[in-house]
Amino acid sequence: MKTQTADPSFDIRLIQPDETVAWFDALGTAFLERFDSAKIAQEVRPRWDYWRIWGAFEGDTVVGCWRSWATELTLPGSGRAPGSAVTTVGVRPTHRRRGILSRMAAADHAASRDRGETVALLYAAEYPIYGRFGYGPAVTHATWTLDPVGVRFHEAATGSVELVKPSFEVAESMRAVFDAWRLRQPGEISRREYTWQYDVGLLESGWGPTWKGFIALHRDAAGAVDGYVRYRAQEKWTKGQPRSVVELDELHALTDAAYLALWQFLANMDWVGSIKAERRSPAERLPWLLVNARAADVSGTGDGLWVKLIDVPGALAARGYEREGALVIESVEGRGTSGETRTRVALDANLAGATCKPTKRAADLTLDVAALSAAYLGGTRLRDAILANGGADEHRRGALAEADALFATLDPPWCSTFF
Ligand SMILES: CC(C)(COP(=O)(O)OP(=O)(O)OC[C@H]1O[C@@H](n2cnc3c(N)ncnc32)[C@H](O)[C@@H]1OP(=O)(O)O)[C@@H](O)C(=O)NCCC(=O)NCCS
Repeated sequence: MKTQTADPSFDIRLIQPDETVAWFDALGTAFLERFDSAKIAQEVRPRWDYWRIWGAFEGDTVVGCWRSWATELTLPGSGRAPGSAVTTVGVRPTHRRRGILSRMAAADHAASRDRGETVALLYAAEYPIYGRFGYGPAVTHATWTLDPVGVRFHEAATGSVELVKPSFEVAESMRAVFDAWRLRQPGEISRREYTWQYDVGLLESGWGPTWKGFIALHRDAAGAVDGYVRYRAQEKWTKGQPRSVVELDELHALTDAAYLALWQFLANMDWVGSIKAERRSPAERLPWLLVNARAADVSGTGDGLWVKLIDVPGALAARGYEREGALVIESVEGRGTSGETRTRVALDANLAGATCKPTKRAADLTLDVAALSAAYLGGTRLRDAILANGGADEHRRGALAEADALFATLDPPWCSTFF
């Protein structure tokens, strides 16, 4: 058994607001960036929840950083779960591989449990970092590139598309569309209030350049906004021909008509050689709208949002299932370490809903919580996720296949929100 050693020379604790500049200086060393720490600290201080901002300290020096913010995750079946969105994680290069990340993760996960959160979420800078902490890749995302030259759609657009100047009202319209849409989209999360103003360029940020681009709103026949697109462009000419690249920041639509109209609007612009959309769903319907589906090319398919189940029974009871199933599942956390814990739950699911309670009954299936977390949103197959997480012990023949089918969903999850 491997023992997790906590180096006592480091103190892991919540930071005080007046330690924010030092915290960013430490983060910058890990991210290989020279942040304007004082400027960013001034910007974030009024907004941050300091009960979720962790630092590792060696004496008075910050050597490690971990932060999370409160969000809400949409689940298969349209349930919702309170979540902890983990971000800006880093350890000074002089202090790496001494257990600092492990201790910050343990501290925030314990706090997350106390806060009543069901899941923790993150985007992994490097794939191998987070599996050991119980996270699994639950959402796959992809880059779509549309070649608009000569593109034709099967159907004509309806409603109207209007280019608008960024304003608080426009940001509000976009937010209303997004909030209605994200409640229907498993894998999507709620956003922070202030992100809308950054996203439309109304607020400057010390993190990077102020957003400067274009926004178009789609209105239905009654004049209600039911979709929006936000994009920037890079001017490009090839042999005297305009071949500019449009970078799509976001396109969200509440109806099929709005989705079609916004893609047509983009495809019909002059001077555009390609439209590139990152962090989209691999199951984007765009190619099916086109007479020549090959004009829309998908690439860069890979792991997007990672999920860790913090409250296993709570999480499994909260989501919907597309078939019936009854299983006793034992999930293991910190497998093979001195801190190993096991949670055994009886899951009883059908199309109307599910119950999931801790149980002492014999397990049908034992697996790592990271595998269960990967499969949680229905887009990653459990039978695949176990391969990266020490396999699964099947105590009842067929239990793995049953669980694999039970967790899978027809529509894949998607999260368009990066943090
Ligand atoms: C990733 C990072 C935070 C790790 O911090 P750390 O304090 O060195 O991590 P720990 O010492 O707690 O490592 C715990 C385990 O994870 C492993 N691990 C840590 N970082 C890893 C990485 N990048 N790739 C593979 N394994 C990694 C360690 O080897 C260790 O394994 P072991 O228990 O088998 O020995 C740090 O290297 C860093 O700041 N990297 C640059 C910034 C970054 O990538 N941040 C993450 C943003 S999502």
